Amino acid sequence: MNETLGVAVIGAGYWGPNLARNFHYSPDWRLEAICDLDLERATGLAAKFGVAAVRSLDEVLADPRVDAVAIATPARTHYPIAMAAIASGKHVVVEKPLADSTQLAEEMASAAQATGVVLMIDHTYCYTPAVLKARELVEDGHLGDILYIDSVRINLGLVQPDVDVFWDLAPHDLSIMDFLLPGGLHPTSVTAVGADPLGTGKACVGYLSMDLPGGAIGHAHVNWLSPTKIRQVVVGGSRRTLVWDDLNPQQRLSVYDRGVDLTAGTLEARTNANISYRLGDTWAPALQEREALAAMVGEFAEAIRDGRPPRTDGTAGLRVLSVLEAARVSLQSGRASRPSGDREPSRV
Ligand SMILES: NC(=O)c1ccc[n+]([C@@H]2O[C@H](COP(=O)([O-])OP(=O)(O)OC[C@H]3O[C@@H](n4cnc5c(N)ncnc54)[C@H](O)[C@@H]3O)[C@@H](O)[C@H]2O)c1
Repeated sequence: MNETLGVAVIGAGYWGPNLARNFHYSPDWRLEAICDLDLERATGLAAKFGVAAVRSLDEVLADPRVDAVAIATPARTHYPIAMAAIASGKHVVVEKPLADSTQLAEEMASAAQATGVVLMIDHTYCYTPAVLKARELVEDGHLGDILYIDSVRINLGLVQPDVDVFWDLAPHDLSIMDFLLPGGLHPTSVTAVGADPLGTGKACVGYLSMDLPGGAIGHAHVNWLSPTKIRQVVVGGSRRTLVWDDLNPQQRLSVYDRGVDLTAGTLEARTNANISYRLGDTWAPALQEREALAAMVGEFAEAIRDGRPPRTDGTAGLRVLSVLEAARVSLQSGRASRPSGDREPSRV
């Protein structure tokens, strides 16, 4: 049995308690402390697990029993907290989004690399059994080449004080696409269209289209104003199509052996007809039930022990951020925008 690693959770608001619970019950971790500027909140959460509650980040970082910190504070605070933790030699897992700009996120990734600590992003959905299975199906060629990915994430949501609907919800869709697409999400252009029908000062309904290499297209629809809740991702492949309906526990994943076939031939012959429909079986892969955050904290521990980047490392967080920034530029300009930089998965 490996020795456990010590962790402190920073931020005891809405999401921090989920991290604290998963670290506490993980065989890989010892939850050592909860830190929040609001000491009452920290104390309430810490009491559930019999650990220390602190207000001062410096106190947490000076504690030699703490090997790592998990940051669940608002996005604009991720950078200063992560940089202080990295400078103290602590491994870091950060909630999405990695930072509120790619420039700051790049500094975080460089600092972690220079210090030799793990920087992980909690792209929670990438640790759900459904997305892990979907990735397996993509990797083993079951779907063929990916032609399109369409993701819908709509419900009645809280209008956030600091971010629009793209920055609040689309990190989920983009991180799923980044995880499923071979080599990660590298759109050649991003077009965002948003609406603010209530006059809140920020987009509450958003549509984000991405041209992907090889002629494929990615699309995400995010919406805080929808009375119905939909969480659906369709991955259209040249061989099969996968549909993930996260709100259907009986059949979250469906694989359709149905699609359109084009017979080989000239472009003219193809456009004139020569199209046939493939009407094969539909099947539902069996999925184990496991909380995504339990798998996420396990991956964080393994990456630290093995000295390797985690499955969702800083560069994955950066790729998602660069698409969000391109979307922001596109919203402002009304034109397609090209994401800056091209981030390959890290090798070390
Ligand atoms: N992975 C997911 O599915 C998921 C879901 C929800 C939220 N999140 C992310 O989690 C993060 C936190 O979101 P939330 O909804 O829990 O926010 P929240 O506002 O409910 O809680 C944030 C907490 O951080 C504390 N805080 C703020 N600045 C701090 C600092 N400098 N040091 C210590 N504590 C500080 C606040 O007092 C508050 O208790 C965000 O990045 C959000 O995007 C992720």
